[in-house]
Amino acid sequence: MLKRTRYCGELRPTHVGEEVVLCGWVNTYREQSKGLAFIDLRDKEGLAQVVFDLESAPPEVVRIGRGVRREDVVGVRGRVRTRAGGPNPKLATGEVEIVVEEIELFNRAENPPILPDEYEAEKIAEETRLRYRYIDLRRPRMQQILRTRSRLTKSTRDYFQQHGFLEIETPLLIKSTPEGARDFVVPSRLHEGSWYALPQSPQLFKQILMVAGCDRYLQICRCLRDEDPRADRQAEFSQIDLEMSFVEREDVISMTTGFIRHVWAELFQHDIGEVPRITWADAMERYGIDRPDTRFGLHVHDISDLAATCDFKVFQEALAKHSPSGRKGVVKCIVVPGGAESLTRKMTDGYTEWVKTFKAGGVPVAKRTAKGWETGIAKFIEPIAAELESRLGVKPGDAVLFAADTWETATKVMGELRLRVARDLKMIPEGAWNFLWVVDFPMFEWDDDGQRWVALHHPFTSPNPDQFDLLESNPGACLSAGYDFVLNGSEIAGGSIRIHRMDVQEKVFSLIGLSREEAEAKFGFLLGALRHGAPPHGGIAFGLDRLVMHIVGTDNIRDVIAFPKTQSGQDLMIDAPSTIDDSQLKELHVRQAAAAPVVA
Ligand code: AMO
Repeated sequence: MLKRTRYCGELRPTHVGEEVVLCGWVNTYREQSKGLAFIDLRDKEGLAQVVFDLESAPPEVVRIGRGVRREDVVGVRGRVRTRAGGPNPKLATGEVEIVVEEIELFNRAENPPILPDEYEAEKIAEETRLRYRYIDLRRPRMQQILRTRSRLTKSTRDYFQQHGFLEIETPLLIKSTPEGARDFVVPSRLHEGSWYALPQSPQLFKQILMVAGCDRYLQICRCLRDEDPRADRQAEFSQIDLEMSFVEREDVISMTTGFIRHVWAELFQHDIGEVPRITWADAMERYGIDRPDTRFGLHVHDISDLAATCDFKVFQEALAKHSPSGRKGVVKCIVVPGGAESLTRKMTDGYTEWVKTFKAGGVPVAKRTAKGWETGIAKFIEPIAAELESRLGVKPGDAVLFAADTWETATKVMGELRLRVARDLKMIPEGAWNFLWVVDFPMFEWDDDGQRWVALHHPFTSPNPDQFDLLESNPGACLSAGYDFVLNGSEIAGGSIRIHRMDVQEKVFSLIGLSREEAEAKFGFLLGALRHGAPPHGGIAFGLDRLVMHIVGTDNIRDVIAFPKTQSGQDLMIDAPSTIDDSQLKELHVRQAAAAPVVA
């Protein structure tokens, strides 16, 4: 068997004269009228042009060479020479070619259902590519992504090992971890009627490792959450998960910022500079979202005080609202520079329809043209027009988009609309890396349906050190020691300082409506650990897939996972999920419920 001496994609003019053996897949085969035949051979490093003369090459070379088809697997031995037909600037190896002396056909490929070609990939349905993922992954772009992902995990391990972190694996078959999603569960064969849960994250184990004296923990781990996949969300995803003992918020933030600084320096030779910070409250007010994209302006303004003076029913009704959280209704707006022209009627009508999906009434629009204020609501805002112009800096040519509703709905509408308008009007600069820390989250949100507080992060998150008293006196005002790391409007990491005192943990459980017995039943093991010498500790987890998405520049999480699930949670290549045998079910003490009758 021919043994490879070089990768196809590595050949350069310095290799001219060298005898090489290349192994790979046939990308293309073509014959020229002059009696020359060319094979473009592909491996993980790229393409190389292989050539033989139909007249003068050894007969075996001509016989095998002429028979190859796309995606056949071959090896060739030959000598590198300068391209006789002139260089091909489109290929990294475009200055050289290999004159074949020997060729070996390792394997024939059936007529390929898809081709591993960037141009073709765009035209092929993603589902088809996922079904034939072993061909799709041969694409240079996919090979590059896999390589980048591997470089990132190496860089991660290097950085954290330098800082004394220990890589420790935690189990996959566990008891439920509360990260807010649904669990995947596994029936136990040995314990009839009992089930394992798959980890939504190693949260409780990493905390217990701190109690166990491990001091600094790292794991590149798999997390499983039974939630609907989205463009940046998979049910099965990876985290760079860490935890540190004897730390405060600043220590974790600085260690983590240092990590990203290290990665960006290594992968991009780019200094990320100082990472700004924003409080959750400011993020919600100025950007309408807890993960602001700061690459563009379009800040949100609360103009409730002005709106109160307008004789406009929409504003007045909104201001009279109260949300379950106790907040009063608001009127908010964004000013779109140049929007009087660039935002067409069709677009703004579209926004009104779209915000109905957030249970909002619509998007009132006012345009400031050279002649004055225009559109349907101009007459209503007439009394506040001068103040809008001076306070918000509205200029002729701008448009103002309003949201008038409960605080929660108006904030959500503004946050989403700000992003949508920025995308529609191409206001987001290419190639910018805007990192941001979001801090001072509320500890709890009020759940009106359940009539109880729910933890905004997980229930092991500590209040900020100066906020403990509020747990008793005013839980709604209590801020947590949680922090999120945001890049270009996407949450790439989230974490917190944890509760390490049993009394505080018990108080939080009781606030979220967990009785002592329920807490013991669910998290007795953690409570036990907290009773036996827990150091102050905190940590964070990066979404590894999301980080890779940013690094390689894709907005589809499936591009950065070798074998991802589809939007409906299926692996089309292996056909999962699928049914299992009755005998398997029986062994697991599981009975299939009868299918619900079909109602005509
Ligand atoms: P959290 O749930 O915020 O925190 O997750 C941490 C980070 O993981 C990424 N992420 C996801 N990526 C892809 N698909 C998903 N379904 C998905 N869900 C989350 C995000 C997110 O910022 N145990 C805590 C961490 C801690 O407190 O230390 C946790 O898992 O980038």
